[in-house]
Amino acid sequence: MSAKTVNVAIVGAGLMGREIAAAIQRWPALIGHPVRPRLTAVCDINPAALDWFDQIDTVTTKVTDYRELLIDDSIDVLYIAVRHDLHEQLYVDTIKAGKGLLAEKPFGIDGGAADAILAAISAHPESFVRCSSEMPFFPGAQWAINYVASGALGRIIEARTAFLHSSDLDATKPLNWKRQNQYCGEAGVMNDLGMHVWHVPLRLGWAPERVYGILQNIVTERPGQDGALQPSDTWDNAVIHSWSRHEGIEFPLTTEMKRIDPGHKNTWEFEAIGMDGGVRFSTKNPKQVEVFSTIDAPGIGREQSWHRLDSGSQSVWPTVTGAIFEFGFSDSILQMWAAYLAEREGALGERFGCARPAEAAATHGIYRAAITSFETRTAVTL
Ligand SMILES: NC(=O)c1ccc[n+]([C@@H]2O[C@H](COP(=O)([O-])OP(=O)(O)OC[C@H]3O[C@@H](n4cnc5c(N)ncnc54)[C@H](O)[C@@H]3O)[C@@H](O)[C@H]2O)c1
Repeated sequence: MSAKTVNVAIVGAGLMGREIAAAIQRWPALIGHPVRPRLTAVCDINPAALDWFDQIDTVTTKVTDYRELLIDDSIDVLYIAVRHDLHEQLYVDTIKAGKGLLAEKPFGIDGGAADAILAAISAHPESFVRCSSEMPFFPGAQWAINYVASGALGRIIEARTAFLHSSDLDATKPLNWKRQNQYCGEAGVMNDLGMHVWHVPLRLGWAPERVYGILQNIVTERPGQDGALQPSDTWDNAVIHSWSRHEGIEFPLTTEMKRIDPGHKNTWEFEAIGMDGGVRFSTKNPKQVEVFSTIDAPGIGREQSWHRLDSGSQSVWPTVTGAIFEFGFSDSILQMWAAYLAEREGALGERFGCARPAEAAATHGIYRAAITSFETRTAVTL
C-alpha cells in the first residue's frame, strides 16, 4: 500500500515542538499506516529556537510569523504548541485557513476561547481538529480502557484518574509562563494537566454531573528574570471529586492534577473498580496492568484476587517493535500522531482516537465548576 504524503508544520519550537518533530522521524516504525507525514515547516517567534530543526532534512521553511504557514498551499496540517493565551487566535486562524490542526491542550485558555474554536470548526468542517493527549496511548492504558468498555467490571463502584508531577517542588525554580494566570489561564494546573486526566473518562461517557473542587496554590512567589520574587498565581494542585454515571448508575469519579506531588515526575494513572472486576494502570510501572477478579478456590469458596500482567509494546497502531518490548513517552506521542492522521484519513475505524473538540471544550466547563466549587465550598452541578 502506498501511503499518502501529508505535509506538517510545527508552530512553537519549544519542548513539545521538538518532541513532535522527533516522533515524526520515527514514522517508519508504524506498520501499514495510510499516511506518511513530512515535517516541512516550523515557526517560532524566537529565531534561535528554529536552529534545532536544521538537523531535519525535510524542513525547508522556517518562519517567525505563523500566518506565513497559513497561506502556504503545500502545508496540510499544523501542530501548535505555544502559550495557552495564544491558543484561541492561532487555532481559529488555522481552522479558518482550512488546515488540519492537532492542537495542544488546553483547548483555548478558557471556556470562551474554546467556544470560539468550536464555532470556527463548525464554519470550517474541512479542517480536521483534535486536541493533544498522549498518555492514554500507553498499551497498559489501552488495555484498561478496553477492559472497562468490555463490561467486565459490572457495576462501577468508583474510578480515579491522575496526572502527577513534582516539577514545582523546588520553590526556587524560576517563574515561567506556565505559572502565571495571564498566560496559563485561571484554571492553572487544570489547564496544564486536565486534558490528560479527562480524555479517558469523557471517552467512556463519564461526563461529571456534580463536582467538588479542591485547589491549592502552594508556592505563591517565584524568582523572576532578575531574581526578585514575583507572584506565581496559578493553582499548583487540583483534585476534582465528581459524580458520574456508568450505564445509568452513579459512581464517584476522582481526578487529580498535581504539579507538586513529591515522588512523581510524569505519572499518569487510571483505576476503575467494579462489583465484578477492576483494573489499574500507572505509567510509573509502564509495563504492568493490574486486574481484579474473583476466583473460585476449591474447598475455600469465592476469593478476591488482583493479578498483574505485562502489556508489551503494542498500542493503537501496530509497530515493528517487538511485542514484548517496553513502551515509553515518545512512543505515546508517535501513537497519538498515528491516531490523528489515520482518523483524518477516515482510516482509524473503531480504534481509540485523540481527544475530540467537544471533549476538549467540555473540560473547561469542568474546571470552571471546580473553581466555583472551591470558592463557594459547595458541590456544583454541571
Ligand atoms: N502533551 C503534553 O504532554 C505537553 C507537555 C508539555 C506542554 N504541553 C503543551 O504544549 C504547549 C507548549 O508548551 P511547551 O512546554 O512546548 O512550551 P515552551 O515554552 O517550551 O515552547 C513554546 C514555544 O512557543 C514559542 N512561541 C511563543 N509565541 C509564539 C508565536 N506567536 N508563534 C510561534 N511560536 C511562539 C516560544 O518562543 C517557545 O519556543 C502548551 O499548550 C502546553 O500546555 C503539552
